[in-house]
Parts: sequence; structure tokens; C-alpha cells
Amino acid sequence: MRFEKHIFICTNQREDASKSCCGEGRGMELVKIFRKKLKEKGLHTQMRAQRAGCIDACNFGPAMVVYPEGVFYGGVTPEDIDEIISSHLVNETPVERLIIDFNAQ
Ligand code: FES
Repeated sequence: MRFEKHIFICTNQREDASKSCCGEGRGMELVKIFRKKLKEKGLHTQMRAQRAGCIDACNFGPAMVVYPEGVFYGGVTPEDIDEIISSHLVNETPVERLIIDFNAQ
């Protein structure tokens, strides 16, 4: 496997303001911070964070998904990134409070 963890962060921006979306601005802010922190921690060769189109979690944005586990996080803010990296990416313990409950829609 090329990367141990692959983080896809939605940066989808809808033209139609009546539909929920994560938004390019908010998504790209998360992508940039993730990349910076992964590099600072020397994890960037094993873990990659990148922008993605809609990951079908629009009502929970800003949304992202971590593979290979396929854990979806919603309502992610820049303040959550350190916890996601240390708990989930490094210590294999997903951040429960941010996990999207798709059954709650
Ligand atoms: S717009 Fe972000 S998940 Fe759909």
C-alpha cells in the first residue's frame, strides 16, 4: 500500500445555495492544515491528506473520510485536526465524537 492512511477532505462547492455542501473554503483550510501538521510530525510520507469532491456526507460538513478504515468525520474544524492525527492516524483510535452517524439523518 502506498500510504498507511489516506484522508479525503471534501472541498465541494455547490452553485445551488439551497443544498448543503462542505464548501471549498472550509475544505481547503482543513487540507492545508492537515498537510502542514503531517509534514511537521514527519508523517507525510506515510499519510496523505487531499481534497476530494463530494463524499456523500453533505449534511454533516465539513466532512472527511479516513482510509483504509473508511471512518467518516463530520463538523470537522481546524481545532479537531491534532486530535484526529494523534488519536486516529497515529494511535488507531477513531475520534468518536466526530464520527458521522448516517442513521441519524
Ligand atoms: S458536499 Fe461535502 S460531502 Fe457532499
